[in-house]
Amino acid sequence: MNSVRIEDKIFEILLENDQISKRTRLIAIQLDVDYESRCPVFIGVLNGSFLFMADLLKEVKMSCEVGFIKVSSYNGTESNGNIKEIFGLPENLHNRDVIVVEDIVDTGLTLDYILGEIYKQKPSSVAVCTLLLKPEALRTSHEEVEYVGFEIANEFVVGYGLDYNGLGRNLKDIYRAKSLESH
Ligand code: IMP
Repeated sequence: MNSVRIEDKIFEILLENDQISKRTRLIAIQLDVDYESRCPVFIGVLNGSFLFMADLLKEVKMSCEVGFIKVSSYNGTESNGNIKEIFGLPENLHNRDVIVVEDIVDTGLTLDYILGEIYKQKPSSVAVCTLLLKPEALRTSHEEVEYVGFEIANEFVVGYGLDYNGLGRNLKDIYRAKSLESH
């Protein structure tokens, strides 16, 4: 499919599943090298990371633990940075190597909040692995963002876990918004 319609928006193809898989395999190889003889805790940020997390973890060979967290809140196409709460964060991260897995880092405000909560537990290291990064949208810089699948322009994207108003997460490929909102 070259384009899809979700509610008021038309989206056109940006990254095909095949490209995503190839990049994911490379990131997994890099992680296996970097975390050799360690046993990190992977923490996926729901809902958006569910497909990337599953595909990435199937490629990773190291011994590791896996968990998910959920943060509120994000509406429509604009990040408001109004993070309220974090659910499901493991409480045993002290002295652990933590790898946060995100679908996308946009303004970075969600990540700011998540990292703040994780550092409270004094882990031995924290790294972030994100499938997508919008460098132009970033409002904070994070040296923890060591693994990036693709840098993309400051456009709204959907598919492969990412949604528009709750829809489109199940699309295999990633699409970018073509038309502006018509209201
Ligand atoms: P940030 O706090 O601005 O970095 O936004 C992070 C969260 O906003 C991501 O985990 C996504 O859930 C959501 N988000 C940001 N940009 C997009 C996008 O282009 N499409 C879909 N969701 C997005």
